[in-house]
Amino acid sequence: MSSPASLATGPAVDLYLTTMAKMLTRYGFEGRNVTVKFPGRSYEGYLWNLLRIATRDRDVRIVESGEFDAERRANGRDWPADAETMVGLKRLANVRQCLESVIADGVPGDFIETGAWRGGTCIYARAVLAAHGVTDRTVWVADSFQGLPAPDGRFEADAGDQHHTKIDLAISVEQVQENFARYELLDDQVKFLKGWFSDTLPTAPVEQIAVLRLDGDMYASTVDALEPLYDKVPVGGYIIVDDYGAVKGCAQAIHDFREARGITDEIHEIDWAGVYWRKS
Ligand SMILES: C[S@@+](CC[C@H](N)C(=O)[O-])C[C@H]1O[C@@H](n2cnc3c(N)ncnc32)[C@H](O)[C@@H]1O
Repeated sequence: MSSPASLATGPAVDLYLTTMAKMLTRYGFEGRNVTVKFPGRSYEGYLWNLLRIATRDRDVRIVESGEFDAERRANGRDWPADAETMVGLKRLANVRQCLESVIADGVPGDFIETGAWRGGTCIYARAVLAAHGVTDRTVWVADSFQGLPAPDGRFEADAGDQHHTKIDLAISVEQVQENFARYELLDDQVKFLKGWFSDTLPTAPVEQIAVLRLDGDMYASTVDALEPLYDKVPVGGYIIVDDYGAVKGCAQAIHDFREARGITDEIHEIDWAGVYWRKS
């Protein structure tokens, strides 16, 4: 156990972390501006992917503008055109709550997110550590940085999954690093694990994980992170599952894993999609 540390308090900490959450989600900063998502197997989807391939060296996107929708952005229901995260304010608040809890209780370990996209949730985790003057915990950013893998036939729940066709989910590691730097938060407390989870996570040099955040969408991406990392979470650490309410395969993976391990810790709801539990 690390020594419990007192959290920094006062209006400046709250103001910084509230402003960071609003910046990272672009909450209220602009019109609605969301990425238009075409179903993978639709005619429009194929045309759009062809266009994206033909223009791959340029940042060409179809963006829908409109009135800012506070409810959708707070609950992470859209894919913002420019924001560094799609998770919404409630799931960012949960990251802050979990990190502040492990800091205050002296639960040792780092923060890792498996599935980072533009990096916004990891940037927020680094901001929380910075706000409390924590210098002995690392933020690990694990991603292929090229989108999701196609289903590989291991899990029935992933059959027909179309996430791998979504080119908007492929963000380069250089872009994510630029996003950290934009907020003055790219330093040696941030480390990147580039590659498929099944390749990088079993041998990742991460010793202990106080907060494990799973955001890989599919069944395979969820278990490929949980299997190698769960035992690195000490008692009192948190497991956050971003897609539990949004992707059936992800919820199935969580149920299967918990049942196989006999895990009965209560699952708490964050919003319509995200859940977490604390390891007892
Ligand atoms: C929904 S996005 C994550 C959103 C992000 N957490 C945020 O704050 O906005 C899912 C990410 O998981 C990554 N991913 C999914 N499965 C993966 C796998 N098996 N290996 C590596 N990366 C994976 C994708 O590249 C993508 O960046």
